[in-house]
Amino acid sequence: MTLNTFIDLVYLLAAIGFILALKGLSSPKHARNGNLLGAAAAAVAVGFTFAYPSVRAHTLNLVLTLAAMVIGAAIAVPAARKVKMTAMPQMVAIFNGVGGGAAALISVVVFLIDAPGKPAVYRIAEVLFGVLVGCVSFSGSAIAFAKLQELMTGRPVTYPAQQVINAVVGVAIVSLAIGTLVTGSVPLLVATALLSLVLGVIFVLPIGGADVPVLISLLNSFTGLAVAASGFTLNNNLLIIAGTLVGASGILLTRMMSKAMGRSLANVLFSAFGSVVTATGGADGSGETRTVKTGTPEDIGVLLAYARKVVIIPGYGLAVAQAQHTARELADLLMERGVEVFYAIHPVAGRMPGHMNVLLAEANVPYDELKEMDEANPEMATADVALVVGANDTVNPAAKNTPGSPIYGMPIINADEAENIVFLKRSMRPGFAGIDNDLLFDDKTTLLFGDAKDTLAKLVAAVKDA
Ligand code: TAP
Repeated sequence: MTLNTFIDLVYLLAAIGFILALKGLSSPKHARNGNLLGAAAAAVAVGFTFAYPSVRAHTLNLVLTLAAMVIGAAIAVPAARKVKMTAMPQMVAIFNGVGGGAAALISVVVFLIDAPGKPAVYRIAEVLFGVLVGCVSFSGSAIAFAKLQELMTGRPVTYPAQQVINAVVGVAIVSLAIGTLVTGSVPLLVATALLSLVLGVIFVLPIGGADVPVLISLLNSFTGLAVAASGFTLNNNLLIIAGTLVGASGILLTRMMSKAMGRSLANVLFSAFGSVVTATGGADGSGETRTVKTGTPEDIGVLLAYARKVVIIPGYGLAVAQAQHTARELADLLMERGVEVFYAIHPVAGRMPGHMNVLLAEANVPYDELKEMDEANPEMATADVALVVGANDTVNPAAKNTPGSPIYGMPIINADEAENIVFLKRSMRPGFAGIDNDLLFDDKTTLLFGDAKDTLAKLVAAVKDA
């Protein structure tokens, strides 16, 4: 067996590792192992790439590659360790954008190497695909990062003749790409790359902050496809497989997220959702006159302590407050008293897929205490208390009852069916979708204002005293 064949076999094993890793990542129980397996497969694949005689022959390239890897690791490892869970989407955006940019650059470099003689049309097509998609992913991810990091407005940015401008840029890119395909011209390829960067920016600008995580998943898929294209360009089977896996899983995740928000992907991408805020903000002093019922930790502690069934519904506020450990403490305490407790998990609670699962896993909440929305909803009518911890849109009945509401059609956790509803939040401000929540004004609802970690700690003390 030649060395090249041996490396290809190792690549095959790495590819199987990636597929099994994705399988593992699809359930909270196996996600950690899936992640480790994926990382190990990637390490083996990268390591064996250095064994290729053609790679070892170029000492300068080797030194540059190793230097880039060291610099990359020095930046990425501390950044990934320090990142707050709530800032994870923008970290994914930036890592993803860099990947897309790298794939585009590789395609350009290969084109420049091939350029002196006009490369075959299929070679130019591979390069063009990698450049176009990689550049859109790079600049689009940069804008997504800026939106989520609040370096710019998170609202959709719209301007007159937006669609016309987008169409003109699109047509110009197609024309330049055809020109490159026919002539093999380097300047035309560079112009295609530059306009693709512009397309990435204008594609993302009208997408609002709440929809950006969905967009990031789509851009992630684009990066995968750009990487697969550079795999064709470099004749590297593993890049083709890995890129295709990222492309396919990214698009599946994008569809699942859109579905969980009750919206089509086209609506997420092109409706400038969130450009108009419809909430009055109530107690913020911005016009809401309805009254709400607030409770003391002691009252709510008694309600919880003597309940039969309590459903904890976590949302984005749990992540902001880092209250997962205190939530678990409260749940454990109630269970010790014989109360049936489980957590109802909405698929888009928080700001990224699996956000609540990751947070609660960090607090070592056993998996069997988590129920996905479809499993939890049939039990809501028999719950004595729905304890909503920093969730809002994902329990807003407007999604069921108010045609015309921006979230109408989104599946929700039916907190409204519980006998009592307790909201832990800091104010009457709305959730991500920017719309009022009638459930806050329901007769069955009691509000306990404050940071969720503090209010949960007060409830723990109150339950102990009850
Ligand atoms: P949201 O509707 O965003 O509501 C979060 C609530 O938490 C707010 O009402 C906020 O009220 C409260 N809060 C914030 N910080 C808090 C703190 N420190 N302590 C206590 N409460 C706090 O959250 P959700 O129900 O999880 O819904 C998620 C939203 O994000 C949905 O609209 C969803 O479509 C969108 N989204 C999610 C994803 C994914 S994949 N998860 C992707 C795209 C969009 P106060 O400010 O008054 O405290």
